[in-house]
Amino acid sequence: MVKEIKSIFDLPGVGEATAQKLIEAGYDNLEKIAVASTGELVGVGIGEATAAKIIQSARDALDIGYETAKDILERRKNIAKLTTGSKNLDQLLGGGLETQAITEAYGRFGSGKTQVGLQLSVNVQLPREEGGLEGTCLFIDTENTFRPERVVQMAEARGLDPDEVLSNIYVARAFNAEHQMLLAEKAPKIIEERNVKLVVVDSLTSKFRSEFVGRGTLADRQQKLNRHLHTLQKIADMYNVVVYVTNQVMANPGLMFGDPTTPIGGNIVGHQATFRMYLRKSKEDKRIARLVDSPYLPEGEAVFRITTKGITD
Ligand code: GTP
Ligand code: MG
Repeated sequence: MVKEIKSIFDLPGVGEATAQKLIEAGYDNLEKIAVASTGELVGVGIGEATAAKIIQSARDALDIGYETAKDILERRKNIAKLTTGSKNLDQLLGGGLETQAITEAYGRFGSGKTQVGLQLSVNVQLPREEGGLEGTCLFIDTENTFRPERVVQMAEARGLDPDEVLSNIYVARAFNAEHQMLLAEKAPKIIEERNVKLVVVDSLTSKFRSEFVGRGTLADRQQKLNRHLHTLQKIADMYNVVVYVTNQVMANPGLMFGDPTTPIGGNIVGHQATFRMYLRKSKEDKRIARLVDSPYLPEGEAVFRITTKGITD
């Protein structure tokens, strides 16, 4: 009789050592293995044939592959929206940032990408009726620009206890692109344990950009970035969380032809981010957000402000 597969230990070809590798890499249940790619498991030190076999077995055991449209509708019913703090900006985004999606903000330095991320890390903690998700935030900081002092200001402006708000934001500094990818791959554990409802990656591309220089390395960079975005999308879907990523634009128009406001990572990021907004400075503390390439929302613009209190109209 064929053994019934109920946990990763029941998968054919998975012995103690393999199970250990899988668990250490965060693949501690059948669901996670079922949605992994062969390459990902090879990446944790499992032979290619074994990897393919156990993924297939996990998929068979869970009876996944095709989802009915009804299941998708059911999953999409759980989509929730997170407020940015600006009604104008929320409206542009169809009510706020969606869970189960990646929202990318790109723009020049000082356009407000980080400020929006910090504000979201506060807002996610708000009750649902105030536009929050009653959850915590995982903040992957690649540029060392996370500022707790600024979070305190924003929390106080909302009448929240700053200490509590700070203790609900889990910040990880990524030292290089590989480390950044690893932090995302390891995120599920903390997401489950700490009721994380928002993952911020600020910036998505800076480490990739600085480490992969020159033509020969471009394909490699895009492939890694692609994998990283896949990880993030999977997290968004699996845990019904909001993923917010920031991206700089290419500042030097001589570097590449075309629009100098082209986001880094180009099409790779463009195809995988569900929502993209382009931020730019306007007069005084005003910022203009333009929605680009949304699957179902009309393109448009919204004006918001960055004040001492944070993001407002
Ligand atoms: P890069 O990461 O350099 O690409 O820029 P960014 O898009 O992340 O810019 P960021 O979000 O850091 O925006 C910086 C701008 O926000 C500043 O130029 C200020 O205009 C505004 N800002 C930042 N902190 C404060 C603050 O405490 N009070 C007020 N009123 N404005 C602030
Ligand atoms: Mg920034």
